[in-house]
Amino acid sequence: MSKIYHADPSYRTNAHMPDYYEALWRFKDDPETYWAKVAGELVWEKKWDRILDWNPPYAAWFPGGKLNITVNCLDRHVNDGKRNKVALIFRGDDGGEKVLTYRQLYREVNRFANGLKELGVKKGDRIVFYMPFIPEHVIAILACARLGAIHSIVYAGFGSEALHARIKDSKARFVITADVSIRRGRSISLKSIVDEAIVNASTVEKVIVHRRSYPPIELYSEMEMDFNDVMKGQSHYCEPEIMDAEDPLFILYTSGTTGTPKGVLHTCGGYLVGTYYTTKYVFDMKDNDVYWCTADPGWITGHSYIVYGPLSNGATIIISESVPDYPDPGIWWEIVEEFGVTIMYTAPTAIRMFMKYGEQWPDKYNLDSLRILGSVGEPLNPEAFEWFYRVIGKSRVPIVDTWWQTETGMHMITTLIGEPMKPGFAGKPLPGVEADVVDKQGNSLPPGKTGLLVIKGPWPAMMKGIWNNEERYRHYWSQIEGCYTVGDLAVRDKDGYIMILGRSDDIIIVAGHNLGTAEVESALISHETVAEAAVIGIPDPLKGNIIKASVILRTGFEGSETLSNELKYHVRMTIGPIAMPSEIKFVESLPKTRSGKIMRRVLKAEAMGLDPGDISTLED
Ligand code: WTA
Repeated sequence: MSKIYHADPSYRTNAHMPDYYEALWRFKDDPETYWAKVAGELVWEKKWDRILDWNPPYAAWFPGGKLNITVNCLDRHVNDGKRNKVALIFRGDDGGEKVLTYRQLYREVNRFANGLKELGVKKGDRIVFYMPFIPEHVIAILACARLGAIHSIVYAGFGSEALHARIKDSKARFVITADVSIRRGRSISLKSIVDEAIVNASTVEKVIVHRRSYPPIELYSEMEMDFNDVMKGQSHYCEPEIMDAEDPLFILYTSGTTGTPKGVLHTCGGYLVGTYYTTKYVFDMKDNDVYWCTADPGWITGHSYIVYGPLSNGATIIISESVPDYPDPGIWWEIVEEFGVTIMYTAPTAIRMFMKYGEQWPDKYNLDSLRILGSVGEPLNPEAFEWFYRVIGKSRVPIVDTWWQTETGMHMITTLIGEPMKPGFAGKPLPGVEADVVDKQGNSLPPGKTGLLVIKGPWPAMMKGIWNNEERYRHYWSQIEGCYTVGDLAVRDKDGYIMILGRSDDIIIVAGHNLGTAEVESALISHETVAEAAVIGIPDPLKGNIIKASVILRTGFEGSETLSNELKYHVRMTIGPIAMPSEIKFVESLPKTRSGKIMRRVLKAEAMGLDPGDISTLED
């Protein structure tokens, strides 16, 4: 039986949601009134006709409602007495800072939106982002949303082929990028990757480049334009495009179990309500909070909990281009002390890395400002919980371990700050979310039994589709009758707390980033020497998992250390550094079922020295 921790009772008394069961009861009693109250705190151009139309698996949230999400993130704070409140603090890799008040952010967004409009951007256009994490990234995201254009942000650590695939699939008209991102004092070119990625992507009309280095890089063709020139001379007000609640807001690509990434589609109304609601209640966001989420806008965490959730709550956000260990492993704690961060949201992989560096780094700084710590991305194992709680939170600060996905758009399972915390367990479904642990037939399992995590019924920030692929969307809702199948294994305890055990499908989570086995395998197979490949995730104390690949070479090629390095590099260039296998094994055959499916479970058992379990379906 693991330990249970309790936050000081004042957390509960002062919380926006002091009583989990009271809120849960209110939701169960009348879900529509529950969500109407949350939505009623936001600004709508026209109120919704109904709360929800639910024709499984298709949901329309707040149908008839009209709004623009940026009015909720900007205009209303500017008009509501928060005009001079700090909206965004940027801290650069070199220690440089930039601060924008709500008024300033509002003006920049409007100017950039006007500039985009002049370039011909209109509602429904897809705009792909490949940007470093600088204020201009946030400005451009909101400018897109102001015009009703659909942003599709690609993490700037991805390689050119991954970027190309996303540009192609979304048929983007515009790409917004920067010359470089800066990491560990070094410039990394982004523009050259965009140059490669747009070859044979004929839909792209313009590439907008934020130029950071001096002297500025040259912009060549008529196709390219400088970021600041787009804004130059533009007025500080751009009429927001009035969107239907169900109009698309963004597409975000995530790994699938088959080779191609899936464009998860989120829409305006429900997504705003869901991210606003969870930011307010899970992070207990108050007016004087200084909130720092260490994610990147390239991931859903950046969308929901750097941009839309916090800004719709009128929060002060910190964004930072810095990596956790440069110039030294004290940098994040220096940021906490320096800016008086009150809420910090990060990932287990980062926490485990800090554990490795040792307590002496955080101990150098005053972390008294912290009042809530958050974790997301993979299971926060009890050791990491204890360390985070004791060393960073000084055994005083509650930790919210938030379980959710790109597809869910918002937090789904966690422990509210006033509730008892159980290390290893994410917690209970938030009021408004119905989760269950079931067997393959969908029967609810008793406490202590491992099964599939499912969500029963719709929730406001749920994805509304997979771009260009209805079948893949339906698949989530068709595996178990009436349920959204998450793809994670889980177990519940007698108090209803849920522990997430990891993926049940062919996804590997490396340092908090999802990778499909198929994605990595097809990158390997695209190399001229490779005939077949199978990759597996092997548990790693630091990264959660590392990737191990088994490779069959084409005849005429022979395995060697040089080739192994070449293949690793090839994957790195194709997908990005996070996908790079740590180990490559050259093999003669792969374990397959009679129907030809690679049995990765057998490879995994072998690699870990475990019993492979039932191998009766193995070919030979
Ligand atoms: C995993 C990230 C355990 C899980 C927001 C999920 C977690 C996948 C947690 C989604 C958590 C996320 N505890 N596992 N608190 N949060 N996961 O789409 O396997 O990048 O299905 O969204 O990450 O990853 P995604």
